Amino acid sequence: TLPEPFRRPLPIPAVLKPTRSDAEADHYEITQTRGRAEIIPGLQTEIWGYNGTFPGPTVEATRGRRTVVTHTNRLPVPTVVHLHGGHTPPQSDGYPTDYLTSDESLAAAASPAPAMSMAPGSGMPGMAMPPDKEARVEHGSRSYDYPNDQRAATLWYHDHRMDFTGPSVYRGLAGFHLVRDEEEAALPLPKGPREIPLMICDRAFNADGSFQYPSLDPTLHQHPGVQDQAMQGVLGDVMLVNGAAWPQLEVDTARYRFRILNACNARVMRLALQGPGGARPIVQIGSDGGLLAAPISHRELVVAPAQRFDVVVDFSGYRVGDEITLLNLAGAGSAGSVMRFKVTRTVTDTASVPDRLAAVEPLDPAAAMTRRTMDFHRYDAGWFINGHPFDPAVSEADVRRGSTELWTLVSDYHHPVHIHLIQFQVVSRDGGKPGPYDAGWKDTVFVNGGEKVEVIAKFDGEPGRYMLHCHNLEHEDMTMMANFRVV
Ligand code: C2O
Ligand code: CU
Repeated sequence: TLPEPFRRPLPIPAVLKPTRSDAEADHYEITQTRGRAEIIPGLQTEIWGYNGTFPGPTVEATRGRRTVVTHTNRLPVPTVVHLHGGHTPPQSDGYPTDYLTSDESLAAAASPAPAMSMAPGSGMPGMAMPPDKEARVEHGSRSYDYPNDQRAATLWYHDHRMDFTGPSVYRGLAGFHLVRDEEEAALPLPKGPREIPLMICDRAFNADGSFQYPSLDPTLHQHPGVQDQAMQGVLGDVMLVNGAAWPQLEVDTARYRFRILNACNARVMRLALQGPGGARPIVQIGSDGGLLAAPISHRELVVAPAQRFDVVVDFSGYRVGDEITLLNLAGAGSAGSVMRFKVTRTVTDTASVPDRLAAVEPLDPAAAMTRRTMDFHRYDAGWFINGHPFDPAVSEADVRRGSTELWTLVSDYHHPVHIHLIQFQVVSRDGGKPGPYDAGWKDTVFVNGGEKVEVIAKFDGEPGRYMLHCHNLEHEDMTMMANFRVV
């Protein structure tokens, strides 16, 4: 039986304290370990969490100031941390084969259990990917160094292990990493207790309370991480926000800023607010890469996996006792609602949403020195980019450092396409204007089946190997990834 909705208070992930700060950087430590959570009342769910919690702790960074996060792996599998949306040098970008092993993971890999394999797979059982010569494997602990030389934005960190991102994130390996800057802090937007990150994801549970994920092997050693018949993507019937099932948040009659993250493996959400008097607008102020130029009012918000929408909701028109529900209009049955807000206090609100939020310089397609096509396509053998499964040795694009490129993303099925390292702008959809959810700087764009989406970006990162991939995590684990290089 499913938990009763709107009973649990909304948890807010703890903000991680630096273990030390010096002139150059703030240093943090995170241990990846098992934890327990009571998600279904009366039952314990084993999670894999950063510091044993789901979501992991929130890292707060300041633009231009380095963050060094030292991760220690105490899980029974190798792990890899990717800072999603981060302008990160290759050695800290969490390339899927840059494993951080643990004593337990090595013991499990060496055990003679049948059909266990540590070899990164091609996504097809029995077909091993050639070993990755560039992989940077470390044991025990590893420090990820993030320059944070980017606009204020809602980033997130999550596991990115080759072939197993889906089941590892499903068990809880995800957290927020916020970048702040002075430009944003100077705006009169809601702050403090009225600025709240919302990590929304769906999960399914077994009768004993454990997560139900269709793995080939529950120890997550036999690749790929997901059974063939689930290759479309794994959906759950319980909607979680910050790890709690259909929570409720008590609110004042004031504006709130919500940093919405779709952390579902595969579910695309269509969010809307329903309160007394009908639907209410959701005002978008930011996208994956930070503030928009100007706010956009939406009746519905389509949010694909990995995307962030920074929004302001105004509860000032309500009365104490009113209940406003965040619905998922794309979800059937229990997946049709997400959380509830209950108005409990009348206050005078001093926050506002200015008409001009930030400078967003449009990139000019005429300035693109190179055009490329990335073709996302399903073949009988799996999900491919440009006609072949992922191969760490093949680069789909060697991009000159600092150059501007225009990429056309084409697809036969809907995919949330994510590009590492950069933030891009959507230039067009099927030759027409960008869609209603394409504004601002983005790192993940939703490409509908049969659609052509043009994106433009300046590749000003450190030379090295990066990747682009589908962020439906089951598609990703079934080889829908490709490399690009900054040269
Ligand atoms: Cu959020 Cu490469 O992924
Ligand atoms: Cu996909």
